[in-house]
Amino acid sequence: MSALLRFVAVIAAALGVADAVRPVEVRQQEFVIASTGSRFMLLGVDYQPGGQAGYKPQEGSDALTDGDVCLRDAIVMQNLGVNTIRVYNIDPSLNHDKCASIFNAAGIYILMDVNSPFGGESIDRSNPSSSYHVGYLERVFRVVEAFKGFPNTLGFFAANEVMNDVGTSADNPPYIRAVQRDLKQYIANHAERTIPVGYSAADVREILQDSWEYLQCAIDGDQNDQTRSDFFGLNSYSWCGGDATFDTSGYDDLVTMFSNTTVPVFFSEYGCNEVKPRVFDEVQALYGPQMTVLSGGLVYEYSQEEADYGLVVIHSDRTVNLRTDFDNLESQYSQLNITLIESANGTATSLQAPTCSDDLITNSAFSKSFDIPSQPDGVADMIRNGVSNPQIGKLVEVTATSLPMKVYGTNGNEVNFQLKILSDESANTPGNNDGGSDANTGNGGDEGGSDRLRMTPAVLLGTILAVVLTLL
Ligand SMILES: *[C@@H]1O[C@H](CO)[C@@H](O)[C@H](O)[C@H]1NC(C)=O
Ligand SMILES: *[C@@H]1O[C@H](CO)[C@@H](O)[C@H](O)[C@H]1NC(C)=O
Ligand SMILES: *[C@@H]1O[C@H](CO)[C@@H](O)[C@H](O)[C@H]1NC(C)=O
Repeated sequence: MSALLRFVAVIAAALGVADAVRPVEVRQQEFVIASTGSRFMLLGVDYQPGGQAGYKPQEGSDALTDGDVCLRDAIVMQNLGVNTIRVYNIDPSLNHDKCASIFNAAGIYILMDVNSPFGGESIDRSNPSSSYHVGYLERVFRVVEAFKGFPNTLGFFAANEVMNDVGTSADNPPYIRAVQRDLKQYIANHAERTIPVGYSAADVREILQDSWEYLQCAIDGDQNDQTRSDFFGLNSYSWCGGDATFDTSGYDDLVTMFSNTTVPVFFSEYGCNEVKPRVFDEVQALYGPQMTVLSGGLVYEYSQEEADYGLVVIHSDRTVNLRTDFDNLESQYSQLNITLIESANGTATSLQAPTCSDDLITNSAFSKSFDIPSQPDGVADMIRNGVSNPQIGKLVEVTATSLPMKVYGTNGNEVNFQLKILSDESANTPGNNDGGSDANTGNGGDEGGSDRLRMTPAVLLGTILAVVLTLL
């Protein structure tokens, strides 16, 4: 009987794992929750603890390998109101199941960069043709294997800031489209759903419009052109301080530029730090009625690193202190009407991507070549048959809801945040988990506690099955 019970428990647990956010897809210029049709606006934070140096595959660790660290940070971010993180570098041979599952349980999606700072693991902007080879693409495909199985994988960045000045816009654009094509073909053959693929652009205004036009257009007007971007991320730092406005920040120019975009556009990084602490007034503009053409954005960045953009400080003993920036961002998020924002869906219909042509490109230095490099030897085989022995990520059960390390608020008091496991397949929203704000410790346990007792239909079914079998 105990073996039988164990068996039933395993089944119940497996069913329980089905608790997951609903996958997001691209429709016209919006991200949309596929099964409900409601618009998905990114309320994001860039997540790179330890900075680029925090990527230590030689020691078996990257930003998503330590379940305790992820639990701590997912709890903190859930309280902040975040629904998306961007992760810059992962080693696809490592196991990310715990971390991805924890963020999933918190209602937080992951935007994943497929590259790394190591040689041979990204397109070299100074010599793109030499870096576009089968070894590089094998890494890229392994990242797909590692994250394709998680419902909260929102998309893959094929490249980040490969064009970072006018000069680098001459040769690189066709290679960005080539990597996008290869990724999309691999996903089409080896993933169970279409996972969006796009680009993250530096805010170099001389080439910004060209970059977006170049990457969204359809070669020969083919709307199914696989080399196109599915989305366009912009790393934007033009709104600085509490005196800035929609007009002085240049947000007005961005809205004009992207007004008829055929792919979702969002800030893949934002949050100028010239005025400190940051007050994040741009949040009201970004999610307000003037900017509905954009799909939100991700604040740079979660942890305090040398560049001084942190929302929190992570100490060497792994305790965390929230910074004033965290409180200010939380307060901005809490003023948003999420119902209103999410209902702004379906505003675009029958958008056609413009046909690629020289006319779309305005800067004389920018590439006008829509002749996309063909796949290096061996790549087509890999796309057909899959990479050998991939590490395929899959959801695991999440049960722990308490902070595994101490977290202190800006007032110095320990906070009492708990993970609220979202059982209704929803994304996290500001105010979803208000438990234990740093000014008001102590009420966080209530929600977390009742939540631990939740019964999803699947778990309930498993439990009934267990009882019936026990009686037999
Ligand atoms: C907009 O979202 C709602 C749910 O929030 C859905 O019922 C409706 O069908 C969606 N509209 C479109 C055009 O997708
Ligand atoms: C938020 O927007 C919805 C939909 O427009 C509206 O019904 C609701 O009253 C708004 N809530 C607040 C607090 O303004
Ligand atoms: C919209 O896109 C078309 C090309 O598809 C372009 O000619 C037009 O100028 C764009 N409008 C704006 C306001 O950018």
